Amino acid sequence: MKKLYFLNAITGKPLKIYLVFVTVLFVLFIMYFTYFKPKPVLSKPARQIFDDYKHPVHRESPFEGAKIVHIDLKGAPLRVSYYKTLFPLLSKLGASGVLMEYEDMFPYNSRLLKNISALNAYTYEDIKYINDLAHQNRLEVIPLLQTFGHLEFLLKLEEFRDLREVPDYPQVICPTHEKTMDLLMEMIDQVVDSHPRSKTIHIGADEVYYLGFCDRCANIMTKFNLSKNMLFLEHVNGITRRVHKKYPDLKILMWDDEFRSFSLKELKNGDLRYIQPVVWKYSKDVYEELGPSLWDMYSDVFPNVWVASAFKGATGIVLLQQSSGWKYFNYK
Ligand SMILES: *[C@@H]1O[C@H](CO)[C@@H](O)[C@H](O)[C@H]1NC(C)=O
Ligand SMILES: *[C@@H]1O[C@H](CO)[C@@H](O)[C@H](O)[C@H]1NC(C)=O
Repeated sequence: MKKLYFLNAITGKPLKIYLVFVTVLFVLFIMYFTYFKPKPVLSKPARQIFDDYKHPVHRESPFEGAKIVHIDLKGAPLRVSYYKTLFPLLSKLGASGVLMEYEDMFPYNSRLLKNISALNAYTYEDIKYINDLAHQNRLEVIPLLQTFGHLEFLLKLEEFRDLREVPDYPQVICPTHEKTMDLLMEMIDQVVDSHPRSKTIHIGADEVYYLGFCDRCANIMTKFNLSKNMLFLEHVNGITRRVHKKYPDLKILMWDDEFRSFSLKELKNGDLRYIQPVVWKYSKDVYEELGPSLWDMYSDVFPNVWVASAFKGATGIVLLQQSSGWKYFNYK
């Protein structure tokens, strides 16, 4: 009897019941996709890439060093909720850590520093959450804090304007200004304090475009007969000595590019014992462009050397679309 009635409904006689039926189905459909459908941790393509990743070279001689993914938060920072998707994926793909370049997304909290943080900066709870999540996914967090060039996020602010090496550009901090070292150490302290598990810090120091430009630096260079390279070393060593004294267990990484113009003698005399350089090159033919002598020189001076490639970005500031071929050769 009931069945007959139902059939009637579909053929349109008691139209109301048919409408109720369709409405209920629609609501169930919406609820399924909103509440019940299990959310996959990895997107399908990413999982496929991982499963298909069976290149024989990697099987025969697996790389045993650390594998770190650089997460650069300048400009378009990740939402905190996204790390929950990202970290398990990175871990599964074989990463052993993440290099977190916070820039103005770090919650600087002293009177002097608090203007540095962006309005949408992470909170202390967020930083703790990111650290805990990384730990759960067996990823070491290495905070990166620029200490020489690329301090735009700091030097663009009115209150730090007088620390610029060149008044017109907020790129490089003046290494001989009396306030510079205390300011950088205060930033380092806050970053280190909020990363209690981290065993490594990265102090940046790449692309220091203006060295010895201001009168103060020029005078000091003349007074102590310092070359630009020596001025660079004075500042970097000032930072690393302080960091090492305060946090003797921290490994200190920095970008290598400023060392490329050094002679072997200059590097050896440079007392760089606390530094592990990260050699970065994002172009197609890394070996040819850096040249074999660079590696010889670094291996003579540093017990540990890191290398950095790029899978995205870093191929020109006006590039709209990434060339995957380029990145493939960069990795090779
Ligand atoms: C932070 O910014 C506000 C508003 O621009 C300013 O009044 C204040 O002096 C700044 N703080 C410091 C420590 O410079
Ligand atoms: C200054 O340093 C250069 C090399 O760094 C050296 O050749 C020169 O003799 C020094 N000059 C003085 C006056 O010490």
